[in-house]
Amino acid sequence: MADIDLDQLETELKANIEGASDLAALDVVRVSALGKKGSISELLKTLGGMDADTRKVQGPLINGLRDRIGQHIQIVRDKLEASALNARLEKERIDVSLPVAPAAVSEGRIHPISQAMDELAAIFANLGFVIADGPDIETDFYNFTALNIPETHPARQMHDTFYFEGEEPLLLRTHTSPVQIRTMVQGEPPFRFIAPGRTYRCDSDQTHTPMFHQIEGLMVDETTNLGHLKWTLEAFLAAFFEVDEIKIRFRPSYFPFTEPSMEVDMQCDRSGGSVLIGSGDDWLEIGGSGMVNRAVLKHAGIDPDKYQGFAFGMGIDRLAMLKYGMPDLRAFFDADLRWLKHYGFVPFDMPELARGLSDG
Ligand code: PHE
Repeated sequence: MADIDLDQLETELKANIEGASDLAALDVVRVSALGKKGSISELLKTLGGMDADTRKVQGPLINGLRDRIGQHIQIVRDKLEASALNARLEKERIDVSLPVAPAAVSEGRIHPISQAMDELAAIFANLGFVIADGPDIETDFYNFTALNIPETHPARQMHDTFYFEGEEPLLLRTHTSPVQIRTMVQGEPPFRFIAPGRTYRCDSDQTHTPMFHQIEGLMVDETTNLGHLKWTLEAFLAAFFEVDEIKIRFRPSYFPFTEPSMEVDMQCDRSGGSVLIGSGDDWLEIGGSGMVNRAVLKHAGIDPDKYQGFAFGMGIDRLAMLKYGMPDLRAFFDADLRWLKHYGFVPFDMPELARGLSDG
């Protein structure tokens, strides 16, 4: 094996390596030299057949060649990889002004309850009501006692309460009315707020789920009266059901935290098989209401000789079922994505917006 062969081979291989225009071509050169049957691999195999003296000379020469060629390939590979990456970055530049593909934005849906809550809040905001909030896990005091429902009161049994175990029992709030107290003790009248949220009762059938949603409303000022309550509910319902006008009627009722207390019915038309809101002479119950009981104002540290107000509580699930035409309450909370896809709301019509912006 002559030295010239090795020099020539090295020159040739280096030329081929330099000449490789991409990673695939470089790999062909690598295999031709260092692969199983590559030229350098074949030379290495000849070492075994040499006598010891020749091998002592040839061994380092051939191994040296293998190392240099390997290093050279690595250097060129690094260069080719860097330029391949640059080329990709150049080519795959993102045009952020392009309209979003419709499939990308139709994935998620807003649950009808969330949608209804957003609509309620927007309407009441227009009427000057702010949003108040309270915990789902309540104390006995806020859920009952402060609302004029003492321990022995039969109304406690009516509520089918979920209790936690413990010495001072906590419970899942049975209505949003505790937020009346929580909010009033934190500020000074006048008050005008709503409190939408989750409520819980141990109850389950086609029209009841153990967890459901209510919206509480409260207004307290020096002259707030029943006329304000009636107007507020009528204005709210007309806006929510998107009709010009909607009549409500009050039926005498009893709640410990209001005096007088009234059930609220709204006008509807059942003659055509489905329920039409805002016309007809049928009635549909949607909630409870009344003038805030003097005892409740006192519990909240408010002088009942100076201030008076109204309160109401309505079922959000019921309102949503009526507005969006959904027949079964339980399906609301089954977490069935097919149901949500059908009844849910598309959050934001991005393609339209993107088009509008790029046109403009
Ligand atoms: N909290 C009552 C209920 O859940 C509803 C209500 C609220 C009644 C406010 C009057 C005033 O049944």
